[in-house]
Amino acid sequence: MSVQTAMSREEVPEEISAVNLVDPKTYLEHDMDAYWRRLRADHPLHWHPPVDGAPGFWVVSRYADVMALYRDNQRLTSEKGNVLVTLLAGGDSAAGQMLAVTDGQRHKDLRNVMLKAFSPRALSKVAALVRVNARRMIAEAVLRGEGDFAAEVAQVIPLTTVGGLLGVPVKDHAYLLGLTKSSLSSDEADQAPEEAFLARNEILLYFSDLVAERRADPQDDVISTLTASDINGVPLTDQDIVFNCYSLILGGDETSRLTMIDSLYTLSREPEQWKRLKEGSVTLESATEEALRWATPAMNFGRTALVDIEMAGGTIKAGDVVTLWNTSANRDESVFDDPYVLDLGRSPNKHITFGYGPHFCLGAYLARVEVKEMLDAMRTFSNGVELTGEPRRIHSNLMTGMSTLPVRFLPDEAGLATAADG
Ligand code: HEM
Repeated sequence: MSVQTAMSREEVPEEISAVNLVDPKTYLEHDMDAYWRRLRADHPLHWHPPVDGAPGFWVVSRYADVMALYRDNQRLTSEKGNVLVTLLAGGDSAAGQMLAVTDGQRHKDLRNVMLKAFSPRALSKVAALVRVNARRMIAEAVLRGEGDFAAEVAQVIPLTTVGGLLGVPVKDHAYLLGLTKSSLSSDEADQAPEEAFLARNEILLYFSDLVAERRADPQDDVISTLTASDINGVPLTDQDIVFNCYSLILGGDETSRLTMIDSLYTLSREPEQWKRLKEGSVTLESATEEALRWATPAMNFGRTALVDIEMAGGTIKAGDVVTLWNTSANRDESVFDDPYVLDLGRSPNKHITFGYGPHFCLGAYLARVEVKEMLDAMRTFSNGVELTGEPRRIHSNLMTGMSTLPVRFLPDEAGLATAADG
């Protein structure tokens, strides 16, 4: 008999049910590795009890189950939201318009339109920009010697990347960065939910203005591509475009930023792995994949069941909210050898950091370029990095990572001499 049928919802041990996955503080206060190990082993389909007036939801922790549910857009929908906060609130106002919360034919059509904007030409232009930015910013940071890597490098590169793709003027980058930070994660534990709501609205308003400008005066950027696009002869509305700009900026900024911060933090604590990277005994590609698996910045995404689903010995009822935990799947010992060991040469490394199936991350290529260029610049210009203070962790039930990273770099003079070479 399977574990889940042997043990009803009520019989889950107290210490498991007491872990409140909705509360951002949980991730700072608990040993989550131990929690996920237990869930994978004994409660692969765990019913999270209702908390603080929000409904209960399913927690799926094993790699194979997470993959199967990501792939299944027939029995599960994203249209009632794909992140915990909207799922528990009962819906997403952008459903059917924003790619991540649209399903079926409309999702396919919209994704094809968006992919046009991610053409190889557009991407190679942005990738070149990422390389130039990463090399310049990291060389400068190494020359300064000490600083906060999060503020000086990691928060600038992703926004410049997505900003460049979307055609957001450079003068507005700092303003948007502030808004994306308050709308998704928070540096402050006590940020009110209303602040996040207001920040999201401001982003939408900002993009409404930009869409109007691009309709009047098209440029070579994603917004202009979208204003010129149609689905079956029907042009995209301003609202369609605004929601998708919002999704690109939110999807592309914080996730990449947190991965870069985590990668440098981890390298500062793993001298052997740093040596492998520096000496070139691992490829930049495999180091990038492992950095992405290790960080798993988006801890979870969610769906709503459309029909009853039997899995892992239990039944998800139609209408139930189901959360898929990338954090746990990426440490599943049945898929990854020594999952809690960082191995920059890891192969195979089929991590689930970018999700899977029809909603697989649209920005995965760009995110990989960002992490790869950061690692490359770091190993070229620096001989190592050490922490000079305690990093601050973010408060979120969606993202994980750090918002500050005080470090000291050891310069590599020979590498720095090549900084201007590109
Ligand atoms: C979707 C993670 C970077 C844009 C997703 C999903 C994940 C993810 C897990 C699937 C969501 C779901 O199934 O509900 C990440 C991570 C990143 C990253 C970890 C960086 C390390 C980016 C970038 C962009 C972007 C740079 C934009 C340039 C999107 C979009 C979707 C998406 C538009 C929705 C795709 C769809 O629904 O068809 N991302 N992402 N992401 N991501 Fe990313």
